[in-house]
Amino acid sequence: AKGVLGAKSVICGHYGWFAPGAASIMRRRPKWNPKMLILGLETSCDETGVALYDTERGLLAHALFSQVDIHVEYGGVVPELASRDHVRKTLPLIEEVLAEAGCLAADIDGVAYTAGPGLVGALMVGTTLARALAWGWGVPVLGVHHMEGHLLAPMLEDEHPEFPFVALLVSGGHTQLVRVDGIGEYRLLGESLDDAAGEAFDKAAKMLGLPYPGGPHIARLAQQGDSTRFDFPRPMVNRPGLDFSFSGLKTFTLNTVQACRDAGELTEQDKCDIARAFEDAVVATLVIKCRRALQQQGLKTLVIAGGVSANVNLRSALDKALAKEGAKVFYPAPLFCTDNGAMIAYAGAQRLLAGQVDDAGTRVRPRWPMEELPPLHKAVHG
Ligand code: KG4
Ligand code: ZN
Repeated sequence: AKGVLGAKSVICGHYGWFAPGAASIMRRRPKWNPKMLILGLETSCDETGVALYDTERGLLAHALFSQVDIHVEYGGVVPELASRDHVRKTLPLIEEVLAEAGCLAADIDGVAYTAGPGLVGALMVGTTLARALAWGWGVPVLGVHHMEGHLLAPMLEDEHPEFPFVALLVSGGHTQLVRVDGIGEYRLLGESLDDAAGEAFDKAAKMLGLPYPGGPHIARLAQQGDSTRFDFPRPMVNRPGLDFSFSGLKTFTLNTVQACRDAGELTEQDKCDIARAFEDAVVATLVIKCRRALQQQGLKTLVIAGGVSANVNLRSALDKALAKEGAKVFYPAPLFCTDNGAMIAYAGAQRLLAGQVDDAGTRVRPRWPMEELPPLHKAVHG
């Protein structure tokens, strides 16, 4: 870890955290340079993601360390353990992506990191490191909105959507329908009034005795489940509007689990059938709301992103439903549906190219409405 660590010790020696004029040293290259190599860091929750994105050549390398094994015994993410592990993993992962891409730290033209929303301690690790490295290297640095990263992840694919589109963001913390007219031009159309879709998957999984995060486990069991055995409600579909609610589904799942237990024991087949009924209900609800949003906005392009967009049944149900209406759905590669550094490097690269940079006093934003983001061509700090 000589290269990166070497640079780091230099920064600590020369510049304080809020050194006056720090922003002005962050421009080694002219900001209008159309080619940039961007280092992206994602540390908002329980995954350390690092990537190198070149605005001409595309994604050069990415590396991910998932903390799942660290948190599994607690049944959820333990914030302090998450922060500590990001401290351990981020620098080695930066070394890894540099080696994989055949690049040197000196080749990097800018650094993008997740500034929020997320766990405050975990965010601070990425923020501190990104800003320290950028100051040491004399390059611009920019805090990226985690959900904007998810939303733009499908842009990393060869076949990617054109603006405007409707985006369904479905992660562990968010369920939102957003109209997207361009980068930073977001209008919230609807969102969950209670649990996020991913959170509902995680809670249902817990009721079935499955480990955290539960989404992939529910999806696996659902494959063996009988879709006709239980009929779960499709929450809020008969109400107008584009909001969601998943807490009723959670109660229905709990009652069904209890009814199986009361009838003897909760068998493996019971678990598969419940997982299937639960997944079908979530998927059907999301499909109905996505179609409604597209109709309301008069658009034919849907983007789905965030951890739950990795769900194969959700993808195929949306493909099928939208094809009937001449609409098309775009999603990231499965690896880039859940948290990763590539989406942060990409989103950061677009904004850094447009001249947006952090000022010297930027802080992490554990809560951060996406509508507060500036449009791409309005350089707020630059
Ligand atoms: O985007 P993400 O990695 O982290 C957040 O920003 O929250 O999303 C994680 C969520 C978890 O709730 C997880 O259970 C869910 O995404 N998830 C899935 C699947 N893979 C991950 N849910 C349903 N089906 C999947 N295949
Ligand atoms: Zn996420």
